Parts: sequence; structure tokens; C-alpha cells
Amino acid sequence: MSQHTCLSTPALEQYLAGINPVEEPLLVQLRAETARHRKGAMSIAQEQAKLMVWLAQLIQARNYLEIGVFTGYSSTAMALALPEDGHITACDINVTYTDIARRYWQQANVSHKIQLHLQPALITLDKLIASNQANHYDIALIDADKTPTPHYFERCLQLVRPGGIIAIDNVLLHGRVAQAAGGSESESVLIMRKFNAGLIYDQRIRPLTIPLGDGLTLIQKK
Ligand SMILES: C[S@@+](CC[C@H](N)C(=O)[O-])C[C@H]1O[C@@H](n2cnc3c(N)ncnc32)[C@H](O)[C@@H]1O
Repeated sequence: MSQHTCLSTPALEQYLAGINPVEEPLLVQLRAETARHRKGAMSIAQEQAKLMVWLAQLIQARNYLEIGVFTGYSSTAMALALPEDGHITACDINVTYTDIARRYWQQANVSHKIQLHLQPALITLDKLIASNQANHYDIALIDADKTPTPHYFERCLQLVRPGGIIAIDNVLLHGRVAQAAGGSESESVLIMRKFNAGLIYDQRIRPLTIPLGDGLTLIQKK
């Protein structure tokens, strides 16, 4: 029995990779190409993508909403896992990053499942709500700019069906949310700290934050 989560080491990561479902070869390639990119660390961790896929299959998800596409690691992993009639609404603002994602969607033969909206995500989410897409999505991932996270969450809560899941990445901000409040904290730390602290009081949801990657919050809508 252990009272603590064991810390990740390269040896443990290698061991886990050997006993867990194998990473799709195309995702290995995408991760390697993204790692060479100036902002390569922005993709979700391999284990986070595997958990998202596992949850999507657990709840038999068809419709997935993604806020923050980057070079396409999470969207490609989810598209490969969704059924043939599954659909992804993908939000990003950056053409250069998402051109890489589009290339991998084509190689994975999943382009037909994905609709990319290239504009600030809040605009896309409000349009979806205005066009009667409330309760349409089974699962959502919030993984874009951090300061609007509470606004992304409120929109996702409308768009995801009861029983559906909202995942939020980078909720620990590399541990900065847990450090003693000082005088010069960034806006994102202040916002995420307040947001994280409020989730357990929200009667509309069942939240759980786990130390996977840079912190992943999983929320089930009641
Ligand atoms: C952390 S990366 C997403 C990583 C992605 N989920 C993956 O696994 O590869 C964040 C992305 O959010 C996008 N982004 C930043 N601000 C945004 C906004 N206001 N609306 C939509 N996307 C935004 C960035 O262009 C970037 O591609």
C-alpha cells in the first residue's frame, strides 16, 4: 500500500509504455515531429491522450469538442478512437500549427470526422450554443490559452450532455497554483487557482483533478 503517487521516472515511463496500450505509430511520428517544433511541449502527454481515449470509449462517445488543437496530437488520437460516424469540433486560431494537424488527420484517414474552426474559441462556442448544440457533445477537452478557462468551462458545460465529460489540461501550471501567494503572480495563476478551488462547490458537476501531465481535471456533468 502507498500513500503517495509515485513520481514519474524515465524507467517507469518505459515500463508503463510496455504494459499499456501501444501508442499508434502515426502518433509516435506526430509526437516526434512536434518535439522538433519551437513549442513542442504544448501537446498533451501520451498518457493523457490514452486516458481521454479510454474515457471516450467508456462512455461510447460520438461527439468530441476540442479547444486547442496545436499540431493535432489529442485530436488525432481521439479521431482514431471514435466510431466511424463520430465527429470532432476542433477550435484553434493558428493556421501554421493546425496545417500540421490537418496533414496528420489526412494520413490517419480521419479528416472526414473533424471540423476545424479557425477563430477564437469563445466565438465558436457561442455560435454552437446559438445553433442549438447544447447537450450535443459527449466529451470535451479544454487545452488552449489559460486565462479564459472559466469561460470555456461554462460554455462546455452547456454543450456537453448530462453524464458527459469535460477534461481541462494544465490546471497545475507546473505547480505554480500551489505555491504561496506572492506579490507578482501572473493573471493565469490567479485565475486557475480560483477556478480550481471553486469546482468542488459546483453542484452541477462531479470534478476530480489528477496529477497527470501538468494536471488534468476531469469533470462529469450531472
Ligand atoms: C496546448 S496547445 C493544444 C495542444 C493540443 N491539445 C495537442 O494535444 O496537441 C494550445 C493551442 O491553443 C490555441 N489557442 C490559443 N488561444 C486560443 C484561442 N483564444 N482560441 C482557440 N485556440 C487558441 C493555440 O494556437 C494552440 O494551438
